[in-house]
Amino acid sequence: MTIKGYDMDQYVIKGGNPLVGEVEIGGAKNAALAILAATLLTEETVQIENVPDVRDTQVMLEALSNIGASVNRIDAHTVRINTSTVNSVCLEEDFIKRIRASYYFVGALLGRFGQAVVALPGGCNIGSRPIDLHIKGFRAMGAVVRIDNGSVNANAGGRLKGGNIYLDKISVGATINIMMAASLASGTTVIENAAKEPHVVDVANFLNSMGANIKGAGTDVIRIIGVRKLHKTEYSIIPDQIEAGTYMVAAAATRGDVIVRNVIPKHLEAITSKLIEIGCEVQESGDAVRVVAAHQLMNTRVTTLAYPGFPTDMQPQMAVLLSLCEGTSTVTETIFENRFKYVDELTKMGADIKVEGNTAIIKGINGYKGAGLVAPDLRAGAALVIAGLAAEGFSTVSDIVYIERGYEDFEGKLANLGAVISKVDSEAEVQKFKLRVG
Ligand code: EPZ
Repeated sequence: MTIKGYDMDQYVIKGGNPLVGEVEIGGAKNAALAILAATLLTEETVQIENVPDVRDTQVMLEALSNIGASVNRIDAHTVRINTSTVNSVCLEEDFIKRIRASYYFVGALLGRFGQAVVALPGGCNIGSRPIDLHIKGFRAMGAVVRIDNGSVNANAGGRLKGGNIYLDKISVGATINIMMAASLASGTTVIENAAKEPHVVDVANFLNSMGANIKGAGTDVIRIIGVRKLHKTEYSIIPDQIEAGTYMVAAAATRGDVIVRNVIPKHLEAITSKLIEIGCEVQESGDAVRVVAAHQLMNTRVTTLAYPGFPTDMQPQMAVLLSLCEGTSTVTETIFENRFKYVDELTKMGADIKVEGNTAIIKGINGYKGAGLVAPDLRAGAALVIAGLAAEGFSTVSDIVYIERGYEDFEGKLANLGAVISKVDSEAEVQKFKLRVG
């Protein structure tokens, strides 16, 4: 499978249309990336459904094939994997360095084979992105872990042993990585101050469906009793909380009326409550939420926190929306140290935002003016598209390769909601779009 997508690609948008209609949410990217790596923990065949067809999952599947696993795409969202043929514990190719989730291969390879050599993770530049807590966990289970020439080199000297780990910071990646490695360790592992995100619970459920013995996922203490072997399973990934939240905020920013289908409303509570606070109407049903935006929306304060707090991955999208609300709002980012790079791009559109430390002070404006924008990272890129949809006139968003890491058919789903948007790969195409839509 080749990873398509070219650096010249950009979105061109004619703003002003309220988003109206229904959108279907795909599988959770941040659950899928871990679950794909976790297929290494069994020699039997695993079938996974509701896998989002995005760049980062394509990279994970390619990495599994590269070390000898058999990977069969049944359809765009279903994959059957058998890792009994894996013939290497080394993953150092350049393409794997581009994504953050490569670190999951350390936990999975260490759990299955007792060793792993994996290039240090890349991912969105929203902060330093250390992996010291992952390493602390592997060492607590008896592994010797070194970082040499850009790779994590871990060796358990046989089978990992259960250990107790207190995570100094709540870390989604470290929680999941330790949980995966501990599933096949001898003895019991306890993770304290664990992350509680829905995708942490989904990975625990996936591992338990293969015969692991994990209790407490979704609370801050997770207990894993290691087993000798894990077996085959068929598993469907939960809906993506952040993809859903992105469309909810886009509906509000364009003063639209959108039904977001195939969601778990409980996972969206922090986002829903903020939308209601600013004056939106949010109706929840079994597996859908409907967002109806009043014309006049009011300011509020948002602070990002680990789940169930307001998700950091929704921070840029919320800031774009608050800029279009009456009064002065604040957005405080407590998880990452450099997640306001999009503010300069919004300033080009007429936003009035001042960043002081880890807080953005956002003065409401009447509306954005279209501009040429550059996506700084995955979620900020999606936020800039939302700004373009709400703006008066034309906008372009380049470096959309970031956005395609986490959003499947972003422009197609938005167009189905009435957005005037297209993906183009040249200035000539931009001009043609402008002539066509007038
Ligand atoms: C995961 O990143 C997600 N990525 C991120 O989503 C998400 O923003 C983040 O969790 C928080 O929810 C994936 O799941 C692939 P962390 P991760 O470990 O695991 C510090 C997206 O847009 N930390 O929970 O890297 C870290 O610097 C992406 O989909 C350490 O200090 O996040 C941060 O300040 C962006 N040492 C905080 O903890 C460590 O060993 C939380 O990071 C690990 C993390």
